Parts: sequence; C-alpha cells; structure tokens
Amino acid sequence: MDLIKRPRRLRSAPCIRNLSAETIVCSEKLIMPYFVCEGAGVREPIESMPGIDRVSVDTLLADLEKDTALGIAAIILFGIPDTKDEKGSGAYAEDGIVQKAVRAIKKKLPDLYVITDVCLCEFTSHGHCGMVDKGKILNDPSLELLAKTAVSHAAAGADMVAPSDMMDGRVAAIRQGLDSNAFSDIPILAYAAKYASAFYGPFRDAAGSTPRFGDRRSYQMDFRNAAEAEREVLLDIEEGADIVMVKPALSYLDIIYRIKNIVKVPVCAYNVSGEYSMVKAAGRLGFGDEQRLTTEILTSIFRAGADMIISYHTRDILKNKWF
Ligand code: PBG
Repeated sequence: MDLIKRPRRLRSAPCIRNLSAETIVCSEKLIMPYFVCEGAGVREPIESMPGIDRVSVDTLLADLEKDTALGIAAIILFGIPDTKDEKGSGAYAEDGIVQKAVRAIKKKLPDLYVITDVCLCEFTSHGHCGMVDKGKILNDPSLELLAKTAVSHAAAGADMVAPSDMMDGRVAAIRQGLDSNAFSDIPILAYAAKYASAFYGPFRDAAGSTPRFGDRRSYQMDFRNAAEAEREVLLDIEEGADIVMVKPALSYLDIIYRIKNIVKVPVCAYNVSGEYSMVKAAGRLGFGDEQRLTTEILTSIFRAGADMIISYHTRDILKNKWF
C-alpha cells in the first residue's frame, strides 16, 4: 500500500506512546478527599465507598502520614459533627471538627496543602446548605454564616477554602470576610457549576447530609443546562473565585470543556462519590477492571480540560502506580 500517513507509527511501543501522549495523570494534579469525625481511634468504613472511611483526627493524622509518603500533596476535608442544629453552628465553631482537624494537620504536616469544604449541610439539622425558614432555603441570611465558616477555616490554618453551597453571592461574601480578617492571601476554589446530581448519593451516606425534606434543586444546577454553567462560572470569577469547579465530572465532560474554553483561571473537576462507587462496584462484581476504568476516567477528565481533579481514587492511583 502506498500510504504516506500512518498514525500507527506513533503507537508502536510504550515509549513513543508516552512521548506522544497529550494528557498524563500525575500526583501533582490530584486532590484526595477525607471525612473527619469526632472521637479517638475511630475508623468507620463507608459501605457504599469501599476504601474510604470516616476517621477521627488521630486516625486521620496516621493516614495522612502514609498518604503523603505515597505522594498525596493536596487534600480536601469534610467534617462530620456529633451534633447538628438549625443554623449549622458546628460549621463555624472555633472548636468545630474541621477547625480541630486543620489545626492538628498543620501542626504535624505543615507542607500538606489543606483545602476545606465550606458548607452548612453536614452541620444543619435539616441537611440543607443554607438557612431554612418555613420550608424555604434562604439565600442572603446564609451568606454571613458561610463567610464566618470560611474565616474560621482560614484562622485554623486552611490553605484554601472551597464553598460548595451554591447560594448566590457566596464567593463575594467569603472574599470580603477573608479580606477583612487578614486572610487576603487565601484563595477560593468555588464549586461554581455544581449540578443537583444522583451521583452524590454515597457522599450523603458518608457525611449524613441528606436533606430531611425536599431536595437541593432550588440551589444546585439543573443537569439539562450548559449555558447556565457558563453564567455561574463567570459570576463566581467576577465575585473573586481563584479556581472554578465543575461537579460531577464524568457525565459533565462537555461542561468542563466549555468552561475551560471561556475562562482564564484554573478549572477543577470533582470526580464525585457515585462515580467512584460505580467503578468499585464494577471491579468487585468482575464487570470491569478497576485499574483500567480508573485511569481511563481520570485521563478523560483531564483531556476535557480539567487542570486538577478531586478524586477518591487518588490513594489507589498513587499506591498502585496506575499511570
Ligand atoms: C456539600 C457537598 C456535597 C459534595 C461535596 N460537598 C454533597 C451535596 O451537595 O449534596 C458531594 C461530593 C461527592 O459526592 O463526592 N454540599
């Protein structure tokens, strides 16, 4: 055959395939989530998320020592309090679970980059991400509490705060709160295009944050929309977001691609709990190869345009050198 162009030439061996690869998954681009709870010596496996546990601060420190040795350089923390109330006061208490965990981590592992999830839903008795009155989720009264939460995380030593509540105006409120408390150097990673998704199911089991009534569709986005994601992201950047997030990731690769093309700030994607659980379940049932599924999924999220990924697979990827 008289073929001048033969794409297979660059696929002939691992070395040339690697040299030609446009996207490579690496530890520097991954963020591992952790669930921290009260108590001592606690390790409670989360049934729907094999390999992920709820841990008390001491157990978390032991895990982090091992995980940082594997190459984990950045983490995001979720707090699970013992008690909840209407106003989610545990979210912004000085001795709240996240604040205690951050202080302990920074003391032991000062170089680990610690991001905190800023939200009320794990701390409110009703399980919503804002204040509630007569069955309505209130926007503006929630902003002050979210800003207070972010400031308390920064005061505990967090390197970055990540609001996940989807109230309008929260990025501006948090920026103002941080700046007026001498935390102008702390960046905001905004969950900017966060969809109301069934893929959060396992997380809500893990964090005990399922709403007691209704759902989150009056604040999280409708998954039928894409232009709306652009509006949300641009608004958050105007309000001062340093990094914008698309969440979930796998069913939203088109959104990641669109956002990457319209913004000049880094884009983060959240490979969420349900995406993780599906892969784990497939692996356990023998319906798919966990390593290959994980690598392909993470690579596709980067290929779509993500600059960084939050993923529960991070530890497995680094431990088993799945890249
Ligand atoms: C809190 C929050 C959620 C997730 C991250 N922050 C749950 C939700 O919005 O219901 C989901 C993460 C995951 O599913 O892995 N607002």
